Amino acid sequence: MADNPKNFGSAKGGNLAAAAGNPAGATAQGAFLNRHAMIERSPTLLFILSLLVVSIGGIVEIAPLFYLENTIEEVEGMRPYSPLELAGRDIYVREGCYVCHSQMIRPMRDEVERYGHYSLAAESMYDHPHQWGSKRTGPDLARVGGRYSDAWHVDHLNDPQSVVPESIMPKYAFLGRTPIQGKRIEDLLRTHRFVGVPYTEDMIENAVSDFRAQGDPESDWDALVERYPGAVVANFDGQPELTEMDALIAYLQMLGTLVDFSTFTPDANR
Ligand code: HEC
Repeated sequence: MADNPKNFGSAKGGNLAAAAGNPAGATAQGAFLNRHAMIERSPTLLFILSLLVVSIGGIVEIAPLFYLENTIEEVEGMRPYSPLELAGRDIYVREGCYVCHSQMIRPMRDEVERYGHYSLAAESMYDHPHQWGSKRTGPDLARVGGRYSDAWHVDHLNDPQSVVPESIMPKYAFLGRTPIQGKRIEDLLRTHRFVGVPYTEDMIENAVSDFRAQGDPESDWDALVERYPGAVVANFDGQPELTEMDALIAYLQMLGTLVDFSTFTPDANR
C-alpha cells in the first residue's frame, strides 16, 4: 500500500476502494467522509439527522400495522379453548409450569425434528397471556397433545420419577385430590371474551354443562364437540369425580393438536 503513490485517500478515509487502488472511488468517498466529519462536529446537526433517520426507520416498521387488518395469519382448525381446557390452562398458569416449560417451537431444524412443526402465531391467538415461556428446564410442550396416554400423564403428574427416573419435575399429586366444580367457568369464558376471544353466547350459556361433559364419556357430549371441534372427551384421571388433574390433562392433550399440519401450507405472501 505504502509504495502506491496514488493511494492518498486510504490514510484518511481508510476505505476499501482506496485500498484496492481505485483513485476515482477514493476521492469521491473521501469527500463524502469529510462531509460526515462536519456532522460529527455539530451536535445539533447530528441530533437532527439522527432523529430523521430513526423516524424513517420507525415509520417503515409502524405504518404497515395501520392498514394490515390482522398481523396473524388465519389458520384452519384454531378454536377457543373448551371450558375444561381453559380451566386446565388456568391451573397450568397457577402452578407455574411455564417456569420450566416453553410452548414455542422455533423454526430451527433441531427443534422441528424433536418437537414437530414450528409454532404458528395463530396457535397462541387465544392465549391470554401467552405461554411461550423463556426457559426449558423440561421439554417444550407446544405439541405434547396426544403424545402420551392420559394414564401416563396421571402417573407423571403424581410422581414424575415413576415414569422418568432422572426427572427433576416436582410432584403434582394434589391435583388429583382437588375436586373442581367449574363454578366460575362462565365468568372465566366471559372474561376471555372481554379480551378478544370469540366465545359465543351459546358457548357461555353451556359452559357449565360442557365443562362437566368433557370429563365424562358417558355424558351427552355431541354438542360440546360441535362447539369445540376436536375436543377430547375422557375421564382423564380415571376417578369418578372431576378434579384439577382432569382439567390439566384435558389442556395438555389438546396442546398443538388443533392445526392439521398434513394439509397446512403457510401463506407465502406474508
Ligand atoms: C422444576 C421444573 C419443572 C416444573 C415446574 C414443571 N416441569 Fe414438567 N418437566 C420438567 C422436566 C425436567 C421434564 C423432563 C423429564 C420428565 O419427563 O419428567 C418435564 C416433563 C414434562 C412433561 C413431559 C414432556 C415430554 O414431551 O416428554 C410434561 C407433559 C410436563 N412436564 C408437564 C408439566 C406440567 C403440566 C407442569 C405444571 C403443573 C410442569 N410440567 C411443571 C420440569 C418441570
